[in-house]
Amino acid sequence: MKLLMVCLGNICRSPLAEGIMQHQAQQSGLDWDVDSAGTGNWHIGEGPDHRSVRTARQFGIDISKQVCRQFEVSDFDEFDLILVMDKNNLSDVLAQSRNEQDAAKVRMLLNDKEVPDPYYDNTQFEPVFKLIEGGCKDIINEYK
Ligand code: 4NP
Repeated sequence: MKLLMVCLGNICRSPLAEGIMQHQAQQSGLDWDVDSAGTGNWHIGEGPDHRSVRTARQFGIDISKQVCRQFEVSDFDEFDLILVMDKNNLSDVLAQSRNEQDAAKVRMLLNDKEVPDPYYDNTQFEPVFKLIEGGCKDIINEYK
């Protein structure tokens, strides 16, 4: 299975989601491919935000080598499941879908709940990590 984690900048939440999902899938013995992307283009080519890198490291996950990229329409062909962090991501990605098959691949990681953007609040990185961790666990149990 191929999964794409999507947020706005691809520097805070979705890099954490990529690292956490990869880690959990591996721990569960699943041969899943996980990538991440942002709907925005500001940080293309950059590494993840240092606060996300530090938080992931605290929990034993190295996300430092990830490189930011922007979501593109061909991602609908490349991936089986596209997991977005909030409702803005959801509408931004769905706006690029070409048909119902594309749209059916997209869902929020936490279903009706959003993963809040921690960019402007240093205290939110650990809570966001925990939220994403719980969401990834549920996805693994649903799709394994
Ligand atoms: P992310 O957070 O969507 O979790 O990566 C953001 C990072 C940067 C910006 C917005 C959100 N930005 O506007 O630069």
